[in-house]
Amino acid sequence: MKLPIYIYGHPVLRKPTEPLTPDYPELPKLIDNMFETMYAAEGCGLAAPQVGLSIQLVVIDVDVLKEDNPECAGRKMVLINPEIEVLDGEEQTRAEGCLSLPGLSENVGRVEHIRLRWLDENFQPHEEEMSGFLSRCVQHEVDHLNGKVYMDHVSATRKLLIRNKLRNLVDGKFNCDYRVKTAARRK
Ligand code: NI
Repeated sequence: MKLPIYIYGHPVLRKPTEPLTPDYPELPKLIDNMFETMYAAEGCGLAAPQVGLSIQLVVIDVDVLKEDNPECAGRKMVLINPEIEVLDGEEQTRAEGCLSLPGLSENVGRVEHIRLRWLDENFQPHEEEMSGFLSRCVQHEVDHLNGKVYMDHVSATRKLLIRNKLRNLVDGKFNCDYRVKTAARRK
């Protein structure tokens, strides 16, 4: 089942998230629904706050980007309670988009190398060093779990230039071909 995606300006995107425990009700179904929602919207990552849930759960599938980013090949992952350790402070800048900010894309600086610790869908622990677009995607999704969106990394000057577009997202004045919940229509 496809879930509505919560849009920039909705308070749930700013709420702190709770660690996930194995007794969470119908978790496998939720994970399936999040993948279905992400694929239907042509995204490569989706975090629980984007479907209105303040829990530490992320789905990622970046395989589609493997041609330009070999580290992404075959990387379909469920991240539960992920933790990032920064290994290399040097930043790379690349364009990012987000299903919660339809129609927008901005350059974002992020560190290149991280070590990620997480639990998979069976609550088995993993630890891995990551770089490239995979590292970027993970950092973007873990930001969501901390109440942040990529736009928070964009300069105030740049945000001033696109303020009307941001305002329209908050006001629900935009088109996209997936189901959404906006701050303006949240009742
Ligand atoms: Ni996002």
